[in-house]
Amino acid sequence: MLKKESSNETKFKLGGRFVFFATNNINKFNEARAILTKYNISVAMLRVKNSELQNDSLKEIAQTSALEIFKKYNLPILLEDSGLFIDVLNGFPGPYAAYVYKTIGNSGILTLMEKKTNRTATFKTAIVYCNSKNNFKCFEGEIIGEITNKKIIDPSISGFGFDPIFQPTGSPKVFAAMSIAEKNLFSHRARAMHSFAIWYKQHSK
Ligand code: IMP
Repeated sequence: MLKKESSNETKFKLGGRFVFFATNNINKFNEARAILTKYNISVAMLRVKNSELQNDSLKEIAQTSALEIFKKYNLPILLEDSGLFIDVLNGFPGPYAAYVYKTIGNSGILTLMEKKTNRTATFKTAIVYCNSKNNFKCFEGEIIGEITNKKIIDPSISGFGFDPIFQPTGSPKVFAAMSIAEKNLFSHRARAMHSFAIWYKQHSK
């Protein structure tokens, strides 16, 4: 909630349960908001440019970026970093998924996976909440699934990134064919976000 400090002042003060999700990805934001609103946590999207560290650990990437953004804006920040780990490729692209997506994309992944029978892959997320220079906490989530044999190209389906080629175990659909509510029943992000929300409700006034 935004509260006015006094009737004459134009300054606003943050109160209640309010966090800023630092991301440029509207899909990630919509998925996160759908979960956080169930816990009565208000969330705003903070579009930021930060120097994303290259590191083998999603947690370290998220922690470094969250701290950098907190220092700049002095707001309670949520920052997440995700990676796709494909078993038969020894965990590639892992935390380098964004670069791989930009360069070879889903078609490139499908080419690397041609004739591979083991198609198991895991999506992982680290979410960091940071509300002071020395206070941050990390929440992780993952989902195991399979890389499909071909990209599903259907104009009616949504999703982003690797959604068209990732099918969680136990679901007949790829992520891209799911609504936000359906994807949130399975996804790495949703799992980490629920852990954050439960913790946050216990620790915020
Ligand atoms: P990021 O660095 O956390 O933004 O994500 C790494 C890469 O994985 C990016 O190319 C994202 O588009 C992709 N990605 C992250 N989360 C998801 C998801 O839930 N579904 C599909 N692709 C995702």
